[in-house]
Amino acid sequence: MATSNPALDELGGYPLARLQELANALRADGGVLADFAIGDPDEPTPPFIRDALVDAVGPVSRYPTAAGQPALRTAVAGWLRSRHGVEVDPDVHVLPSAGSKEAIFHLPLAVLDPHGARRGVVWGDPGYPVYGRGALFAGGVSDPVTLTAADGWRLDLGTLDADRLRAACLAWVNYPHNPTGASVDVDYYRDQVAHAREHGLLLASDECYQEIWFGERPPPSVLEACDGDFTDVLAFVSLSKRSGMTGYRSGAIVGDPELIRRLRLLRPNIGTASPDFVQVAATTAWRDQTHVDARRAVFAAKRDVVLGFLRDAGIEISGSEATFYVWFRAPGGDDAAYAEALLAERIVASPGRAFGPAGAGWLRLALVPTVQGCREAVDRWAAAIDAGRLPV
Ligand SMILES: Cc1ncc(COP(=O)(O)O)c(C=O)c1O
Repeated sequence: MATSNPALDELGGYPLARLQELANALRADGGVLADFAIGDPDEPTPPFIRDALVDAVGPVSRYPTAAGQPALRTAVAGWLRSRHGVEVDPDVHVLPSAGSKEAIFHLPLAVLDPHGARRGVVWGDPGYPVYGRGALFAGGVSDPVTLTAADGWRLDLGTLDADRLRAACLAWVNYPHNPTGASVDVDYYRDQVAHAREHGLLLASDECYQEIWFGERPPPSVLEACDGDFTDVLAFVSLSKRSGMTGYRSGAIVGDPELIRRLRLLRPNIGTASPDFVQVAATTAWRDQTHVDARRAVFAAKRDVVLGFLRDAGIEISGSEATFYVWFRAPGGDDAAYAEALLAERIVASPGRAFGPAGAGWLRLALVPTVQGCREAVDRWAAAIDAGRLPV
């Protein structure tokens, strides 16, 4: 038998496999199913973005460059200026990516020495699994830090042992946070930038949910905490959630000019540059804010329905300030058991343990169904509680 990368064996099974199997069986019978599991909403990509893509498909197809189109880098810089009040040089601080997932996965290849002393990659549990997986495949060590409701699901590098930080080369933060929807302020980022620099770590901030927020103040970027000096800091932004473009695969890496230079050396080897027609559509999307505000209003309406129901039912909500996720404590205490009981009511939710051991006891709802779909689902949910089929 051929050899295998041991990192593959370390991944273990897919945590949601059993739930997905049950959900698929329900879907097959054609009846109504409210699927709040996968973070890929049904709202269409705005027509002007689709048109931009179609118009850009030319007769000759060429390889795209890893550095990306200057117009795209300029559009990202323009968005950072208007949305975050941050000035960056499109040629020095910005590098397009094919969505943020691949950029997150590949980052350790540029910064992690698999034979060095600092092989750790710090990230928050519960969290997006790709931070740890990118570390493993680059020959590093995944080092998840337990997050708690009491700390607002914040990863605070200041609370970690100096030894642990000295063993790491990179720390990931992700706010607004998947899976909890927790958000942070700019002072949080100032503290984390200071801790990272003190310990010679790269601070990488996954900001793909930046535009899905509710309430008074939009979530800040780590770049706002840098006062123009982006040393040891990178932000990862994406059009997937902002513009309903998950299938286009377009985002950007922004920050430390030296790291951007190194990523420009690395990334042509990988071959993940977005096609040129996608880059044209992406440029159009970054230049427009109106469609983003409209999308946010849709998620706000769904969120009102779901949060209103959970509050009325006396179910504890945590985080859930931003992103299109709602995070709640499992009535009865067992997230996996509650997810299965919900499934019997034809409602699919993700048990928190799917996002790491620290997620056990919690569940995540992705606001995927329509507003009407959300209303129907919470009505069924309430009826099941009243009938005693679900614990409270
Ligand atoms: C926290 C987080 N980061 C990154 C991504 C990847 O997003 P994309 O590659 O579509 O930009 C996701 C996708 O769900 C996510 O939840």
